[in-house]
Amino acid sequence: MSNPSSFADRYDTVLVPVIFQPWAQEMLARTRPHDGLRILDLGCGTGIITCSLTTSGARPAHITALDHNADMLAVARTKAEALGVVADWRQADAAALPLDDASIDLTICQQALQFFPDKPAALSELHRVMAPGGRVAFCVQRELAVNPMLNAQATALDRHVGREAGDAVRAICSLHDPALLYDLFAGAGFEDVTVESVSLALSHPDGRAFAEGAMGGMHTGDKLSPITDEDRQRCFDDFLAELGACFDGRAIAFPHVSHVITARV
Ligand SMILES: C[S@@+](CC[C@H](N)C(=O)[O-])C[C@H]1O[C@@H](n2cnc3c(N)ncnc32)[C@H](O)[C@@H]1O
Repeated sequence: MSNPSSFADRYDTVLVPVIFQPWAQEMLARTRPHDGLRILDLGCGTGIITCSLTTSGARPAHITALDHNADMLAVARTKAEALGVVADWRQADAAALPLDDASIDLTICQQALQFFPDKPAALSELHRVMAPGGRVAFCVQRELAVNPMLNAQATALDRHVGREAGDAVRAICSLHDPALLYDLFAGAGFEDVTVESVSLALSHPDGRAFAEGAMGGMHTGDKLSPITDEDRQRCFDDFLAELGACFDGRAIAFPHVSHVITARV
């Protein structure tokens, strides 16, 4: 059972429907996994790629869904069980995959590469487990300048909590250089590497509710608990004000821009 107040639960209930579910649809539309593939969902989090894949009617031969965070996997397992999704959930680091050589046909890695501490090691490890002709597809958030929702979060957190809180948002956007992305994949031995900027139009009907959910608990810990209720409300006010035209007084609607990287073995 997962802890109901954990980051993983908050991630799954607040962030996944608004951000990661639409990205999962985009990544599946782009990769079009045909039946019989051995698939790796790398940095699977609460399992949105794996669950969307199965519920979309695809029939992979096998899905390995891997993450190093036990809480994220616990939420993923519970959700998958309820949906009747069958996957091999593995807790491991991306740089040490518990998988055989040449055992995966398609890897999808959604918004996780930027957090891997040793990216070259993780990508060469991924190259090892990919079968000849296998495909990989990653998406990685672009910089704050083109991501107004995250920029507004970073600004409000800097102002009301401190630079370290804002840095947690900046880390999400830290791997934005397309040339660096290309070099990372090519350097790990991948071929036909493409890096494309993709923008999704995302929204939430209640901007303040989204802010409370999204900024209350982040991957690096709860940033808002050290400040008073009053300051917290001011922080949300600033977040909404910083959104400018992306906030209509109640709802938020914003572009969410990432690089999508595809490559082959
Ligand atoms: C922003 S979440 C994305 C999760 C999921 N792919 C999704 O789209 O919802 C990033 C995930 O990467 C995982 N992660 C970060 N570093 C990792 C590593 N070194 N090895 C495996 N997983 C890692 C985190 O635990 C987290 O679940």
